[in-house]
Amino acid sequence: MQTTPLLETKDLSLQFGGLKALQNVTMQVPAGEFRGLIGPNGAGKTTLINCISGAIKASSGSILFDQSETVNMEPHLISQLGMSRSFQHVQIFGDRSVRDNILIGMHRQIKQNLFGQLLGLPGTRAAEREAALHAEELLKRFDLDDVADRPAKLLPYGVLKRLDLARSLAAKPKLLLLDEPTSGMSEEEAHRAIAMLKDIARQDGMTLVVIEHNMRIMMELADRISVLHLGQIIAEGTPEEVTQNPVAIEAYLGEDDADA
Ligand SMILES: Nc1ncnc2c1ncn2[C@@H]1O[C@H](COP(=O)(O)OP(=O)(O)OP(=O)(O)O)[C@@H](O)[C@H]1O
Ligand SMILES: [Mg+2]
Repeated sequence: MQTTPLLETKDLSLQFGGLKALQNVTMQVPAGEFRGLIGPNGAGKTTLINCISGAIKASSGSILFDQSETVNMEPHLISQLGMSRSFQHVQIFGDRSVRDNILIGMHRQIKQNLFGQLLGLPGTRAAEREAALHAEELLKRFDLDDVADRPAKLLPYGVLKRLDLARSLAAKPKLLLLDEPTSGMSEEEAHRAIAMLKDIARQDGMTLVVIEHNMRIMMELADRISVLHLGQIIAEGTPEEVTQNPVAIEAYLGEDDADA
């Protein structure tokens, strides 16, 4: 009696020249789940997220998002269906304030060309007031209220990563894809940020697919984990199942730097 998953990839494959970066990746993520994506360096994790978000076109296979076939759709159209993502390397507007970056994140999904105008407008309309309130809430929840008015480029990397998280949550997407959202944070900071993320996701009914190398965080917070290796899903299950899976241990979890 399973309901239709929010995200489903079927036999997704992608080649870069002779390199098979993704090989028949078939994966289902039900609505509301926190799905972890792990695997060694070069396994294809970022590439998979790039395909799902439309940044890179798959060579073959299918991607169903919220019952729409998106495999050949442009990224901005996929984004309008309610999918948002972060990047392995932070992408922010350095000259803009922290608050503006969150407002931009909020409006970008609604209407691509609105954000430029938005920041010059006096925020009188109800929707804008609501956006401003939501931004303040995110600033607080991610401990960014003290730096809200500072240009983002002046912030240390760990704080920028928190901003990136807050920004990607701002549009309340149905599905949020996060590529190593806690890299550059201390373990404690990372733990807090992901717990906060999970909290907000649950509150807003969001589904998460998160690439994260820190297994302690994954064990505690992911509902299920998919393990990628050489472009293939080699194991999948609850954190407990995956950490006991000999194939996953062999490919990834046995590595000394698995949680580096
Ligand atoms: N644009 C590209 N052109 C050619 N090869 C690429 C491209 N992007 C990625 N690759 C290759 O595809 C494979 C998968 O890379 P990908 O970045 O998806 O790995 P990853 O699992 O995200 O690794 P990491 O943990 O290091 O971020 C690697 O062998 C990589 O070198
Ligand atoms: Mg990567």
